[in-house]
Amino acid sequence: MNRSHRAMALAAFGVLFLVPLVWSQDPIQVLEHKEIGPHQRPLVTFNHDKHTASLECIRCHHDYDEHGNNRGGEDKAQPCASCHQPTAKPPKPSLEGAFHGQCKGCHEAMWGQERRSGPVMCGECHSRK
Ligand code: HEC
Ligand code: HEC
Ligand code: HEC
Ligand code: HEC
Repeated sequence: MNRSHRAMALAAFGVLFLVPLVWSQDPIQVLEHKEIGPHQRPLVTFNHDKHTASLECIRCHHDYDEHGNNRGGEDKAQPCASCHQPTAKPPKPSLEGAFHGQCKGCHEAMWGQERRSGPVMCGECHSRK
């Protein structure tokens, strides 16, 4: 193998090795978005895997086109903060509002339909373990 072949082989290996990492979201994350500023409440734990077991990616990873249609989904996942700045203006919620609206909003709506979901009380999400 000459030098450039070796470089190509290494590059191919790097691609095989790195691509899965893009999709391997930590199953359990402690959310601490510094953009929000210093945190007053205990940090919130989010189990990504438990959620993806029963919910489509697009439910959370949205991306609205100019007509308001949601074109998000699996290949559009990105940090919420890339669109929800702490100072975002309606109809786009601030970063804190985005998390409360999505997390609590979904849990409340599902309980309202008598479907099992997650916590809605402050201390159940912001809990000291
Ligand atoms: C379903 C879960 C959930 C519930 C219920 C919830 N929160 Fe939160 N809250 C979050 C998440 C997620 C964040 C974003 C934290 C981060 O990513 O840094 C957040 C952020 C915050 C923040 C900004 C960060 C901080 O700690 O200062 C405050 C304040 C807050 N929540 C207060 C409340 C209060 C008060 C209630 C009840 C009225 C409440 N939350 C209910 C999930 C929840
Ligand atoms: C219940 C809501 C929810 C569902 C369903 C969901 N995710 Fe997520 N995902 C999140 C949240 C919240 C984050 C953290 C975002 C942040 O920190 O700004 C995240 C982060 C990610 C990230 C990391 C983004 C980055 O660049 O930091 C990827 C990749 C991802 N999710 C992929 C997926 C895929 C693929 C699916 C479907 C199989 C999926 N998610 C389903 C809520 C969800
Ligand atoms: C590509 C940019 C983008 C990303 C990434 C994004 N949002 Fe949004 N989000 C928007 C826009 C734009 C709106 C306002 C839509 C409208 O006009 O009503 C919105 C609206 C919302 C709303 C209001 C209700 C709704 O669903 O329309 C919530 C809650 C929300 N986002 C939470 C989140 C959370 C949590 C994340 C990360 C998992 C996230 N968003 C990621 C652009 C984004
Ligand atoms: C689209 C709906 C939806 C959204 C958005 C959502 N959840 Fe949930 N959540 C659920 C459902 C359904 C369950 C029950 C899952 C189970 O028990 O298997 C759940 C369970 C939970 C639980 C209890 C199980 C556990 O993981 O310990 C917590 C805590 C939780 N969610 C936190 C959050 C936080 C924090 C967010 C936002 C970052 C969020 N959820 C966003 C639907 C949602």
